[in-house]
Order: sequence, then structure tokens, then C-alpha cells
Amino acid sequence: MGVVMRSWSLLVCVLVVLSGCGSEVEVSEDNEALLGEGLDSDVETLLGSSRLRDFASSNVPVVGAAVIVAPATSNPQYAAALATHYNEVSPEVALKWEVLRPSPVEYRFGDADALVSLAEASGQSVRGHTLVWEVNLPAWLNDTLGPTGVRDAMLTHIDTVVRRYSGRIAHWDVVNEALTSGGTYRNNVFLRAMGPSYISQAFVAAHAADPTAKLAYNDFAIEFPGAKQDAAFAMVRDLRAAGVPVHEVGIQLHTRPTDWVNGVITTQMLRDTIRRFGSLGVEVYITELDARLDQLSGPDNFRLEVQRQVYWNVAAACYAEPACNGVTTWGFTDLHTWLPAGSKPLPFDSSFVAKPAADGLASGLLGLAAQPVTRTSDTSCFGLSGALFCDALESDSLYGWGQVRQAGGQVASLATGAYRGLRAVRATTPTAPATRRGYVEKRVNGTGTTIWSRARLFVPSTSANDLTMFTMDEPLAPYFGVGVGMDATGRVILRVAGTPATRVLGPTFPRGRWVCAELRIQVADVGGQAELFLDGSRVGLLQNVDTLFASGYGTVKAGIIYAPPAGTPAEVRADEIVVSATRPGCQ
Ligand code: XIL
Repeated sequence: MGVVMRSWSLLVCVLVVLSGCGSEVEVSEDNEALLGEGLDSDVETLLGSSRLRDFASSNVPVVGAAVIVAPATSNPQYAAALATHYNEVSPEVALKWEVLRPSPVEYRFGDADALVSLAEASGQSVRGHTLVWEVNLPAWLNDTLGPTGVRDAMLTHIDTVVRRYSGRIAHWDVVNEALTSGGTYRNNVFLRAMGPSYISQAFVAAHAADPTAKLAYNDFAIEFPGAKQDAAFAMVRDLRAAGVPVHEVGIQLHTRPTDWVNGVITTQMLRDTIRRFGSLGVEVYITELDARLDQLSGPDNFRLEVQRQVYWNVAAACYAEPACNGVTTWGFTDLHTWLPAGSKPLPFDSSFVAKPAADGLASGLLGLAAQPVTRTSDTSCFGLSGALFCDALESDSLYGWGQVRQAGGQVASLATGAYRGLRAVRATTPTAPATRRGYVEKRVNGTGTTIWSRARLFVPSTSANDLTMFTMDEPLAPYFGVGVGMDATGRVILRVAGTPATRVLGPTFPRGRWVCAELRIQVADVGGQAELFLDGSRVGLLQNVDTLFASGYGTVKAGIIYAPPAGTPAEVRADEIVVSATRPGCQ
């Protein structure tokens, strides 16, 4: 590991070209400062026009991508994006036996030579992938060669290939995927010929052919604790104890966003895994990261947001763990992925435009602590009989967001139809029908008779959203009790649950900027009132709302709710909701 990053502000000056340097962007280890101030109105520009490879640091020196030869040599956009954003490449297939070895006596180095030369021309190092793997083998390499034949073929192959690129390929995935999920050796042609010692023999042969190359054991699903990880750990430990040159462990990390949403994998788990392997004295690399979106339900922008969080969390885990020295994605554009069409698992779209995932990757590489992607403890979504989009992620994303002040009682966060951007909570359903509503809320158990809520909202100037800010009492669920907000034409209105009443209170709701809205609902008193303030000025007072709050309330909520017109893009953001027994006030 080299020099520690000199200064956050310098780094960001270099990298966040968009936001300008020496300006108001205040960068500190507190990511809120960076994300809150500098990138306020456009939260997805951390990467901006910068290069991903510039986010490499002494913490995560390698920012890599798997590369395939055809587009690299014939699609200028592909070649340019690859050269721009990555400081290392892994040939995705060009170094596999099936390409290199058409027959027992032939080597076809054309593709690999081209990729290694391209990498060198772009100042990129190369990760050699892979010397011994049961997949992508030519038909001639089979059991009929006999134990000696297979052994000779393997050792000659390793010697020839590694020697050819000696000094030019920095590390090799020497043995790939040797273990089953149960932690036993996979029954492949090498094991059948040589027994488990094929693994140590492969490492020894690779080391002899290029003593300067770092040699890796690479596998998938070893990020999860369990039999496979235990077996990989024990295998690498025993190999090293026996003096076998194993220098690295590659965690492939073909990861599923659904696993992150459901808490099957967490940043902490990934960190623990990295640290565990690191305790053996090896370097750890994330070698084949992708995060397929096709198994995740929800609107596209929601899924892209989850993907951003996943990439962020992975890079953040690598950044935080000294043993981890690189993040490589398996491909980089959705145009070329080994996963099914439509899975869109990579950081750049099929037109080479950076997706939110690229921004997430940059955020993690920068060392910004990611929000956890899931929180399974509070996933309740209720109301509107399933009309709402509801996901564990949303609840999690809202955790820690907003505050409940001065109200006492127990605080819980619930979220439906909303998710969190870098700074703000967004409630958005771009193409949903008007019957779909999303809301975010804070909940307080135990209440007085007068409840204030405050939200800082950003409603885009182009928005035709029907927005309501509300407080409510629980027995009126599944719908909110009374809310004040704006209708589709922008007028400030009051809405009353269970009645057809929608009353116009007053002026137009400001759009295109952040607005501080304070709503007071007086409940349980005869002649209750609802009163709305926008940026400190009272814009409406409504009498006699008490019939809504007949009896028995115990939980008061506040939030925003919106109902976009069918098929229209819609977005409302809120960065804070306060529920209070006294007027919160707008700063
Ligand atoms: C895949 C490639 O992406 C495909 O193009 C090829 O046909 C099969 O292999 N784990 C690995 C990689 O270690 O070598 C695999 O790459 C993906 C799973």
C-alpha cells in the first residue's frame, strides 16, 4: 500500500470536475458534508465527467473491468470508455483454454496479445484470467488423456502462457472455482487426473514461469459465511502453510441486489469476509462484480437506485478493509454482459453512459460510507391494499432520515413508494397510474392533542404532482386523516380522509425550489384545526376538522404523499420530516 490519500478536498477537486473546485464544496470524512452541500440539486453527479480510474487510491488501487476482444478492437466507443475509466483489465475469455488451445499442440495468442497491448497503451495493468478452470475448456482436454496426459497438458499450458506474458500480466487467477457450495473439491478433469494436488501444482508452475506475478485463488459465493468460504479459507491457509505461492484471493461477487435488499449479504459481511481472508496474509480483490437487475421488482429508477447502493457498498467495503486492493467489474457496459439480456448488471449503460451504479462505485472508491441497503426490521407497508410499491429497501433507506423531535415516545420509520437519493428522500413513480401513491413518514407513539409536522420539500418546477403533507392518527389507517399540500395545478389544498372534501386553502405552492412546509393538526378537540405555513408564512387555516379524529388515536404520523398523474414523470423529494408537539419552525 502506498501513500495515504493526501486530502479529501484535493481529491475531490481533481475528481468532481462538475461541481468546480475551491467553491462551496466542503469535503470532509463526513460524507454528508460533501453530498449535502456541493451536490444538492443534482445528486447523481459525483462521477460527473471524471474518470472512474481517478477514484483509485492507496486504499483501492485497482479499478478494473473485464474486457472482450471484439468491441475492444472494433468499437471506438467501447475502447474509449474502457481506456478512460479503468486502470486494469481482465480478459474475459481471451486467456481461457478454449480460445488459446484449439489443439494439444497449438496456441492462439492473437486475442490475448491484442488485449494486453491495448492495456499497456492505456496505462492499464492486466489480471490474467484464468489458468485452471473446468469451464471453457477445449473438447480435447478430457479424461481420455489419462492422469499423466492431463497433468502434462496443464503444466505445459501454465508454463507457456505465463512465461509469454511474464512481467506484463500483474496477477493471475491461477485456479478458478475449485470448490463446491458444500466445500468439497469440484469433480473436474484436473481433480480426476491429479487429485487435489492439481491446485498446488498449478500455483507452483505459475510462480516458476513468472516469479513477479501475484497468484490468486478465485471463486464465487465465498462472500457468504458457510461451508464454501470455510473451505476456501482452509485451502488457502494450508497451501500457504505448505509454502505454495498463493498471494491473493479473488472474490468474484456476481452479486444479486435482491440479496442486499433482503439482508442475505451486507457490507459488514463482505468486510468480515475480506478481513478473514486477509488474515491469511493474502491480498483480496473483488474480481468479477456485477449486480443483475432483472430479479428485482419495482420501477426502473428504483432498481437503478438499488444497484447504485450495491456498487457503493461493495466499493466502500473494499475501501474500508486494508486487505482489499481492487474492485473489478465483469464487463463495464450493459451492451456486453455474460448475464441474460435485460439484466443490466454493469455501471455503464449500453450507450456507454454512466449509470447510477457508476456513481455508487465512485462514491465507495472515494471512501464515502454507504447507507446499508436493507433493514429487515421495519418493512411494513400497509394501506391501499397493495397499490403501493413496498420493499424492504425503502424502509432501510429511510432509516436515520428525518427526525422526530420533542414529541417523545417511540420513533419508527416507515416508507412506502419512496427511496433515498444521496441526500434526499425521493418519492417517485415515473410511470405509475394516478391510483398509486407513495408516502414517507415518521411515526411517534404517544401524542398530544396538537401535532406539528415539518418537511423540507423539493418539488420540481415541471412537476404536476398532487402533493400532500399530512399528519394522521393511526385508527384512521389505511388512509391518512388530514393533509395539506398542493393539487395537480399547484394550489394549496386541504384533504380530509373519508370525505369527498378537498378544499382550496390559498395560494400556489412554490415549485422548483426547496420549500419548508409546516403543518399543524389539532386533533381530538371539538373544532379541531389544520394550519399550514410555507417558509414561515401562514397560507391557510381550516376549522372544524375534529370529526376525523373521533377517538382512540395513539400514533401520530407525518409525511408527504403524492399522486402523480398517470404516465407522467414525477418526483418529490423531502430531506427532513419533523414531528413535534410545538411549532418546529423553519430555519
Ligand atoms: C464467463 C464469461 O463472461 C463468458 O463470456 C464465458 O462464456 C463463460 O465465462 N466466473 C468466472 C468467469 O470466473 O470466467 C466467467 O466468465 C463468469 C463466472
